[in-house]
This record gives sequence, C-alpha cells and structure tokens, in this order.
Amino acid sequence: MANEKRSSFSGKLGFVLAAAGSAVGLGNIWRFPYLAAKYGGGIFLLVYLILAVTLGFALMTAEIAIGRKTGLSAIEAYKKLDKRFGFLGWLAALVPVIILPYYSVIGGWVTKYLFAFVSGNGAQTAADVATFVDAEGATKAVSFFENFIGTVPAGLTYAEGFGAVSPWEPIGWFMLFIGATALIVFLGVEKGVEKVSKIMMPVLVVLSIGIAIYAVCLPNAIDGVKYYLLPDFSKFSVKTVLAAMGQLFYSMSLAMGIMITYGSYMKKEVNLESSVSQIEIFDTGIAFLAGLMIIPAVFTFSGGTPEALGKGPGLMFAVLPKVFEKMWGGQVIGTVFFLLVLFAALTSSISLMETVVSIVCDKAKINRKASWLIVFVGAVIIGLPSILGYNVWGEVKIIGMQFLDFFDFISNSVLMPIVALITCILVGFVIKPQAIIEEVELSAKFRRKALFVFIIKYAAPICIILILVSSVLDAFGIFKI
Ligand code: PFF
Repeated sequence: MANEKRSSFSGKLGFVLAAAGSAVGLGNIWRFPYLAAKYGGGIFLLVYLILAVTLGFALMTAEIAIGRKTGLSAIEAYKKLDKRFGFLGWLAALVPVIILPYYSVIGGWVTKYLFAFVSGNGAQTAADVATFVDAEGATKAVSFFENFIGTVPAGLTYAEGFGAVSPWEPIGWFMLFIGATALIVFLGVEKGVEKVSKIMMPVLVVLSIGIAIYAVCLPNAIDGVKYYLLPDFSKFSVKTVLAAMGQLFYSMSLAMGIMITYGSYMKKEVNLESSVSQIEIFDTGIAFLAGLMIIPAVFTFSGGTPEALGKGPGLMFAVLPKVFEKMWGGQVIGTVFFLLVLFAALTSSISLMETVVSIVCDKAKINRKASWLIVFVGAVIIGLPSILGYNVWGEVKIIGMQFLDFFDFISNSVLMPIVALITCILVGFVIKPQAIIEEVELSAKFRRKALFVFIIKYAAPICIILILVSSVLDAFGIFKI
C-alpha cells in the first residue's frame, strides 16, 4: 500500500463526504445518546461540545495533516515522522482491531430490529414478551430487547410466540452483519456502498429531525429536553469528561490512525481546516439529533429515573420502538430509520475492516485474500464473548464489566486517550506544531493556529494525563472519581 501511487479524493466535497461516512455510524446514533443519558444529560453535552471544538479540532487537524504530509497510512506515517514513534502506529492499529468485533455485535442488533420492522412486527419490539418472578416473589416484565440479547434469568413464563432465551439468535444476527461487511470488503465494492450511503445520509438527517421533533412533543418529554439541554453542574465529574473524551475519539474516528489514512488521500489544494470543521459539524449534528430522539422519550416512557437513564448500550433499542409505536405510520418510519442506521453502521464497519485488512496485509506480508480471511475469522472469534457476556456468560466479569463493555472501555477510555496523548507529544515537542501548520497552510491560511498550538502542546496532554490516571485508578477500585 505504501509504495502504490495513492489515488486522491476528487475535491473537498469528496473528501468531507468520505471522512464523514467513516465518522458517522453507531457511535453517533447508538453510543452518544446512552452516554449522554447516563452521564448527566446537559453537562455531558456541554463537555462534549467544548472538547469537540478544542481537542477534537486539534487532533483531527493534526491527523489529517500528518496523513497528507507523509502520504502514508498510520503505521508508516508515525515512523516516517520520527523513528522512535513507530510503536504509536501499532498502538493506534490495535484500536480498530478491538472495535470491529463488538461494533458488529451492535450492527447485528440493528439488523435484527430492521427485520422485525420489515416483517411487520415492529410493534413487538416495543412490547414485554415474558414475565418472571424474582427472589422476593415479585413479577417482573422482560422486554423484547432483554429477551433477544439474553440478559434474563432462566425459567420464565413466555408470552405467546416467543421462545426461551438463546445465544444463537444474537450470534446469527452478528454473523449476518459481519458477513455482509466481510463480503463487501472481499468483493471490493465499498465504492458502491459509499455511493448509496451518500444518498442515505441526507435522508437520515431529515428523518432524524422529524423523529426528534415528534419525540420532544410527547407527554412529559419536556423534562427530558431540559435534562438533555440544560447543564446541571452538580452532575459534573471526571467520569463525565472521560466518557465525553472517549466518545469524541470514537465518533470522529480519531486516535486510531483512520484520519491519517484519509488525509493521505487528500489533495494538497483542498482546504484542510474548513474540511475539519465540516466533518465535526456533521458528526456532532447527527449525534445531537440522536440524543434528542432518545433522551426526552426516556422521560415519557420511564419517567426519567436514574435506572432508565443509566441503561447503557440497550437504551436506543429499548426506547425508539416505543416512540415508533406511538407514531402514526410508525411501522414504516421505523423500518426506514433502522435501514438508514444499518447503512451508517455498514459504511463504518467496512472502513474498520478495510483498515485492519490492510494493516495485516502490509505487516504480515501476506496477500489480501489471506489477510481478509484472518481478519474475518479473528473478528468473529473476538465478537463471540461480547455476545455471550450479555447472554449465557452473564456471570463472567472482567474488572466488573461484561466483555462488550470491557472492550469498549479498553479501546475508548484507555487506548485512544494514550494514542491521543502520544500524538500530542509527537506533534507538540518532536516534529513541532510548525510542521502541521505548514501543511495546513499549503491550501489556506490557518485561522485557529494559536489555539491549535496551545491545545496540542499544553491543554490536551495535561488534561489527558489527569483523566487517564484517575480513571485507571478508578477502574481498579483504588480511587473513586
Ligand atoms: N466513527 C464511527 C462511529 O461513530 O460509529 C466508528 C468508526 C468507524 C471507528 C470507522 C473507526 C472507523 F474506522
């Protein structure tokens, strides 16, 4: 790959759309709302926005500029900038390796929901499908989602038409999603998918606006709108900042070498700084809308209890079907919505798998087909514990987390901040910010130059170190944050 002449994106629009295609995905629609709900609503949103225009802006500018300057993908690019930093490419490459499998598990959940809606059973996804009696003798309802992923105890009475929990269901949908991703990568037809997604993406935006407007008009939703938009400073904690920072990296595909690769395909005359702004606005806009679709509805359907808000990865799957159920034409709207989400997820998973395949290809010096097979099989194997952890392995915990949450934690809250930190050190003190500034100024004047230097050299490294140390201590129970 490194020696081939690199093809370039035709212009600024081509570049921005391609990078946004990789950036916009489940991170925006599935992950952002559940984190915002869990970490205090408005305060999370505020911290996220501040980080986006400071850390996000600086890091994305640096990564794209590094890619364009060196014309190489991450592993080679860091090495070329400074031999001692070759390890950083490896560290960055580890992130997509960890993310791809569990990303595909969530992709499988989306596929399941799409099929439920397509087959006319959308309403079922909003229903309770079983009941069980707990230790105190109280009956509890089991939702469609809990039943599907299998987070429920055995020995329940099931509603008609529903079987007992089985790990094969989520495994099947996961295989379908990752199989589709792998097939597209194998056939090399990503371009076709990208073309379709360029049409789908604007439709997703329009539909999301419509659903969000509907959701905020539901009874009691106004309390949720306040919770989401008005920051409550008493809810601020280091955890909020860590969650927002990890989400920023995840959502904008930063600190994992992806934007370096995209930058390596960017033409010198394309305005780098304004491209960064456009990708950020697009990515953040979709995440914001997803929050508006989901968080106020939590107040409508569950009264905004801490338990409902803290639901975690299942939030979108629990809440949206209820919104669609109430909506006129909800069955059709739900179908279209999950189809669009599936496309957004696919463009991202394709870009994840493509990245991993080319790393294995280059580094193991094997051909593309062999590398593809290794990545596909490897991702399936690593994906399985993430499914089983929510299912028959419910008791297995790593530092108190299920597998999926653990993989998510290691990549977002540990690896990516480390990669970001070392990138800041490399740019701030080794190659010096001037090298990036010169690259940016090849196309236009760098307007936020001073801000960039301040963040890369001082603000970002200090903040990341503080957050990282306190969160690792917290994960091991040494220090509570
Ligand atoms: N940024 C994507 C999202 O928010 O869903 C996730 C992602 C896609 C990360 C592609 C990395 C990547 F290469």
